[in-house]
Amino acid sequence: MSNLPGKRIVLGVSGGIAAYKAVDLASKLVQAGATVNVIMTRSATEFIMPLSFEAITKHPVHVDVFEGWSEDAKGHITLADEADLIIVAPATANTIAKLAFGMADDMLTVTHLSATPRGVPLVIAPAMEHHMYIHPATQANLETLRSRGAWIVGPEHGHLASGAVGTGRLSSPDRIVGAIRQALGAGGPLMDRHIVISAGATRESIDPIRILTNRSTGKMGYAIAQAAIDAGAQVTLISTPTNLPEVAGATHVAVESAIELRDAVQNTAVGADVLVMAAAVADYRPVEVATDKIKKTDDDLAIQLTRNPDILATVETPGTLRVGFAAETRDHQEHALGKLERKNLDIIIANDARQAMGSDDNEVALYYRDGRVDTLSLVSKTEVAAQIVERIVEILSLRSMTSS
Ligand code: C5P
Repeated sequence: MSNLPGKRIVLGVSGGIAAYKAVDLASKLVQAGATVNVIMTRSATEFIMPLSFEAITKHPVHVDVFEGWSEDAKGHITLADEADLIIVAPATANTIAKLAFGMADDMLTVTHLSATPRGVPLVIAPAMEHHMYIHPATQANLETLRSRGAWIVGPEHGHLASGAVGTGRLSSPDRIVGAIRQALGAGGPLMDRHIVISAGATRESIDPIRILTNRSTGKMGYAIAQAAIDAGAQVTLISTPTNLPEVAGATHVAVESAIELRDAVQNTAVGADVLVMAAAVADYRPVEVATDKIKKTDDDLAIQLTRNPDILATVETPGTLRVGFAAETRDHQEHALGKLERKNLDIIIANDARQAMGSDDNEVALYYRDGRVDTLSLVSKTEVAAQIVERIVEILSLRSMTSS
């Protein structure tokens, strides 16, 4: 579930050592349901064989700008006309300069010039030696492209082909796919909407080493953040530590305890269009946090706990669409409806705590303020997230229709 199925993506590969990583990128895009047409620069073919991309994408790789003219006299124009997005990965300093200056001396730059005036999004993943990257010319060229609406992803800091350590490594294929999804989502149904999402298990300190926490992995909240980005939203993801990769395009806010989470929600959700509280918040925290490690003495140890604030019930967000979760082990409906009322929610998503925590799948029921109920049988968290975002889109558009 993403915004990639059915999309036609032109993958431009220019001549850097990172060209081999573009094969993995092409594979991820194909697996996600996109049609990928690869264009290589002549120097890229020195690093990697076109055949690698052809085997993955099942489409011919384009290198020569004059190929195909005899068949339909259109050549590159067909690729440019059909593209939903152009990604250049890796983008070398040379190709970036050519794109910025509007040169058209190879298949990639010609396709770029033909496609971008139609509003086809351009995503650029630079990869080069650190000194080439920081050169004012490269920086100015990237700025030119950015100011024209291109999405730039990376480069990252790390080991470079020269043996040096610096900024210039190609972003990971997952990050590049994230940037592509963000670019494809821009202008979607949640355009100009700010969505604040909390995710993960809170951690309450007992002493400098121990914490009280729960089994939530954050997967649900991250999946909702990704689905909202796919729909063009501006997303703030407030998260406790998780093992999940960052959601490209979201503003990440790191928290640990329930109090930190409450403060972050207070700071970001007031005035937001939507607040989704997917975090599993500890109901209690230790009254005191020991400054030194608690040493073992007796057989028993009592830790006194105090109630954490209920964030949804206490943070007021007038005008914001509010979505909460109810993870229960019994009497799901009764508890969910109680929380819908008490926490002043527009939607509450009820699931079975034993099944939901840590699993990739989820069986959920959505209860709405107007009394409607939707049940989704065992589906992946990404599907549940897409459904939740769809409902959010519906409710927001109904609201703006009635207020206009
Ligand atoms: O009361 P309970 O913890 O079951 O409610 C769950 C919902 O309320 C979730 O959306 C959770 O993120 C939110 N919550 C909260 N503040 C708390 C506990 C839970 O906002 N202290």
